Amino acid sequence: MGSLRVTKFDQPKSFKFSKENMAKIADILKKYPSNQKQSAVMPLLDLAQRQHGGWIPEAAMEEIGRVLDMPRLKVFEVATFYTMYNLSPVGEYLLQFCTTTPCWLCGSGDIVKAAEEHLGAKIGETTKDGKFTLVEVECLGACVNAPMVQVNDDYYEDLTPELMVTLLKDLKAGKKTSFGSQTGRKGSCAQDGPTTLEAQAKKAKVAMAENEKKSGKKG
Ligand code: FES
Repeated sequence: MGSLRVTKFDQPKSFKFSKENMAKIADILKKYPSNQKQSAVMPLLDLAQRQHGGWIPEAAMEEIGRVLDMPRLKVFEVATFYTMYNLSPVGEYLLQFCTTTPCWLCGSGDIVKAAEEHLGAKIGETTKDGKFTLVEVECLGACVNAPMVQVNDDYYEDLTPELMVTLLKDLKAGKKTSFGSQTGRKGSCAQDGPTTLEAQAKKAKVAMAENEKKSGKKG
């Protein structure tokens, strides 16, 4: 993930998991042997991030270390290694623009430009109203529907600059948005419409019959 340009922000002095999240932690811990509690560090970092408005304060890492009986530094090492953990405040909507080759070839540069111009903020920045944070990321595994952007937990795909701006306007207005393909493509089916195995098999048979005819065999 591209680094966030963060000015000054306050670290809360303490952090406690909510009652609901403590119950989730108890369930998570059941998945690991009791002497391997540290294995739960990633899901707990995720819980802390969700509870704390999209970023993980140092106090939360300290609390995770306490809950998992592991040094705070080890928690910090994991949190700083994986880019999905935000260690400084982010906007209400975290926009993760994929600019890796397939998305780039399909116009991700124009998508980023349209978003930056519309929001008046660059990659690595948060808009003044605190609504949007823009970051650049590597491939998010939705190349077939490139170009795409991840907004919080959702993927928006088959974007054009115009569709990107519409999406931003809808998010800001609190309107319900539809994630997935923005052009109505179903899943990741071909741009020209769905194909079926049956259709492919028929095509193959025709080709086979023609080949057999050519080679003098019975068609
Ligand atoms: S290159 Fe953008 S999702 Fe893979």
